[in-house]
Amino acid sequence: MCGIVGYVGNQEAVPILLEGLHRLEYRGYDSSGLAVCTRGGLKVHKAEGKIQQLETRLPKRLKATTGIAHTRWATHGEPSDRNAHPHTDCTGRIAVVHNGIIENGAELRARLLAAGHELRSDTDTEVLAHLIASAGGADLEESVRRALGAIEGTYGLVVVDERFPDRIVAARNGSPVVLGIGEREMLVASDVAALVRHAERVVYLDDREVVSIRASGFSTTTLEAEPIEKSATPIPWKVELYDRGAHEHFMRKEIEEQPEAVERSLRGRLDARFGIAHLGGLNLSARDLLEVRRIKLLGCGSAYYAGLVGAHMLERLTRIPTDAEAASEFRYRSPVIEKDTLYVAISQSGETADTLAAVREVRRKGGRVLGIVNVVGSTIARECDGGIYMHAGPEVAVASTKAFTCTLVCVALLALHLGRIRDLSPSDGKRILDALERLPEQIRTILTATDQIRAVAERLKDRNDAFFIGRAAGYGVALEGAQKLKEISYIHAEAYPASELKHGPLALVSPETPTVAIVPNDDLFEKSLSSLEEIRARRGPVIAIAHNGDARLHALADDVIVVPRSEPVLDPILMTVPTQLLAYECAIALGRDVDQPRNLAKSVTVE
Ligand code: G6P
Repeated sequence: MCGIVGYVGNQEAVPILLEGLHRLEYRGYDSSGLAVCTRGGLKVHKAEGKIQQLETRLPKRLKATTGIAHTRWATHGEPSDRNAHPHTDCTGRIAVVHNGIIENGAELRARLLAAGHELRSDTDTEVLAHLIASAGGADLEESVRRALGAIEGTYGLVVVDERFPDRIVAARNGSPVVLGIGEREMLVASDVAALVRHAERVVYLDDREVVSIRASGFSTTTLEAEPIEKSATPIPWKVELYDRGAHEHFMRKEIEEQPEAVERSLRGRLDARFGIAHLGGLNLSARDLLEVRRIKLLGCGSAYYAGLVGAHMLERLTRIPTDAEAASEFRYRSPVIEKDTLYVAISQSGETADTLAAVREVRRKGGRVLGIVNVVGSTIARECDGGIYMHAGPEVAVASTKAFTCTLVCVALLALHLGRIRDLSPSDGKRILDALERLPEQIRTILTATDQIRAVAERLKDRNDAFFIGRAAGYGVALEGAQKLKEISYIHAEAYPASELKHGPLALVSPETPTVAIVPNDDLFEKSLSSLEEIRARRGPVIAIAHNGDARLHALADDVIVVPRSEPVLDPILMTVPTQLLAYECAIALGRDVDQPRNLAKSVTVE
């Protein structure tokens, strides 16, 4: 999704802005651009396509120490040079980059056109440049504040004005803006990833705040010009973690990082003496937790699927009725919010607009929400009543991998914590705890099966369609596996609860349509074998992800990808890993852009 970076300091701005844009590429985009304040005034360059297109268009000498830049993901108006940001006013002295949606953009555009302004793009953002230019005000900060008074909608906004080349003004309402504090230089961005090389500390803007940034510091006010003190926090992850290193793709790197990521999710949180999990950030006492009668997990995309799997874990270990719902739908059905329900919002980025809206809906109606979030300081993390950080490290590839597994680890920790307050015995708690500690090593074992999975992918890649099936929590794994395959290889894949196969989709099972089956050797194993029989009877190829040792399974499946056994509630964590590798290897075999699949964005910050 759109990305913003701005720089003011004493170094050359252009390379820093371009580097920042590259760090935001992972979010997904279709065009890019930058504006810098040079001695000869404001200069703007933009290009449709990859950032390289922009780079080839830039003049050799573009000297400036203040500038802003943007990667655009089209919402209003097709991807094109003309619609790429920055946008300028009629005279070309003010440039604006913007994430979000101006809801009254059409009305403002009509008003500006009637007043004689010349608008050159189809975007809602362009109206902002014109409004700021005609807002009056003693300085850029005041002009921006005045212009924003006319705006309805969401924005993360960064502005430069050639009359004030020593500063950048930024504002936030519903779309993230973060300042990076460097050594006599300052940056601003929509995502910490764009700042890491130059800043060690960051300041997160809150909604309805405006900041004026100079090399020497910054000052923040509300939209009503009330001054606000903001405090800086250190950037949590080291800069190297944002690099691809020797890996061909971020996705591969992030799949391989899972053992260490899971270790980090667990670190300091397990107490073997009592078989319990310590979760410092919940902000809920044992008494509060005893009152919980129901749990609802909310998330979008992979975070939702992790919620579906997590609901089984929670229900099994706590015996509290638990379900998961797509956060993107939740608020539209005017949900009943109950005081004794614990809501849990899951989000890797902590910025997904739909998940954030669900959090706000729950809180508006008096409910309590915990966040399971990866990005420290993100909006969802800050707006929840408490939560559990994943500590997965930065996830850059659009297709979520390590955040999915770490979410499940965090849900398991929550389940252990809640379970031990209730009926889970110390010995059962200890068994789960031991199994959690074994996960990193077991994931390492699965990662050694890459050759086998590559061979399976080599056959799967030529198919147009695939089914993924699983039972109970395994159905959530199937959904996530199918999603991964769709997202990055573009092979059509559908997930079904295994028992639903015979109620419709079996009509499409044929030698051309393989099924990936999640088949742990648990109490549903025999049932799963019957589903595989149904498929075999239609000569459908079967790829089973299973535990070792059952000859009947081997007879029914063309391929068996074996994963180590864990506790049954944790098996889904391990069974997910081969589905990630399978999708990755298919995408590679098909020559896809694995880290930036078409039409998708890493963090969807618009509704
Ligand atoms: C987008 C991404 C998905 C991701 C979902 C939720 O749709 O493409 O990969 O699972 O957002 O993201 P979040 O950051 O809230 O976990």
